[in-house]
Amino acid sequence: MAAETEFAAAKINLCLHVTGQRADGYHLLDSLVCFADIGDRVTVTAGQGLKITGPQAAQLAPMPDNLCLRAAEAMGGGVSIGLEKHLPIASGIGGGSADAAAVLRAMARMGRTLPEPAQVLALGADVPVCLSGRATRMQGVGEVLTPVSLPSAWLVLVNPGVGVSTPEIFRALGRKDNAPLSDLPEWRDCHALADWLAAQRNDLQAPAIALQPVIEDCLAALEAQSGCALARMSGSGATCFGLFKDQAKADTARAALAARHPAWWVAAGQMLS
Ligand code: C5P
Repeated sequence: MAAETEFAAAKINLCLHVTGQRADGYHLLDSLVCFADIGDRVTVTAGQGLKITGPQAAQLAPMPDNLCLRAAEAMGGGVSIGLEKHLPIASGIGGGSADAAAVLRAMARMGRTLPEPAQVLALGADVPVCLSGRATRMQGVGEVLTPVSLPSAWLVLVNPGVGVSTPEIFRALGRKDNAPLSDLPEWRDCHALADWLAAQRNDLQAPAIALQPVIEDCLAALEAQSGCALARMSGSGATCFGLFKDQAKADTARAALAARHPAWWVAAGQMLS
């Protein structure tokens, strides 16, 4: 059996409104999600086990409950997974979900049948959107997906090196019945997108900052960069993104942030449409 390699793109919540809570405790969301050409790489071959390499490998033990292995089990197992880990762990950009979705895509290319949507969702609320791999309005708890078109833009991602527990952030959230997103227009360019986003929110940002104040430093550092049209936290944090129209300005910002904050993880890449 040939090896199948898949890119596991970082998932960024450009905005994330918490609009309710189900009886089982899961939260109803309304979120505009995009992906970036920054991510992990997953290689699947015949065999068994999980080998993790790459710059973030030390942060992640290859435990049996790893989402990659659970995804492989959901498609019948019997594969060996190589995970080249670049994205920081527990950081609000869907690393684990993106990796699981990449395993599902790789195994589908090998002729396996994708699990039912409910089974994909059971792997994690962000796995369905990561499986789609394209810009999406995500609602429900992560299962109601409407594709959207986004204008050309660049993203700078900053993570201060603190892991954030998603359940803890949801528990710390005050209001859970916030307004949904405003109607989605067709954004003609990055600035139109930034203007629209400025009127939306990430409802998890304030509780995340209360638990990890360094997130505010990340946002301020991004906002200080020339060409940054908007800075916000993604998901339950702690990773923050800056939205840029220009590749050159995004690259300059990435280099400046990395030089000024050597302990932070900083990356720049194109927003995938
Ligand atoms: O589905 P996933 O394992 O990624 O979710 C992690 C945790 O985040 C859940 O156990 C739940 O506490 C919280 N969560 C939530 N509502 C969502 C997604 C996640 O409350 N829509």
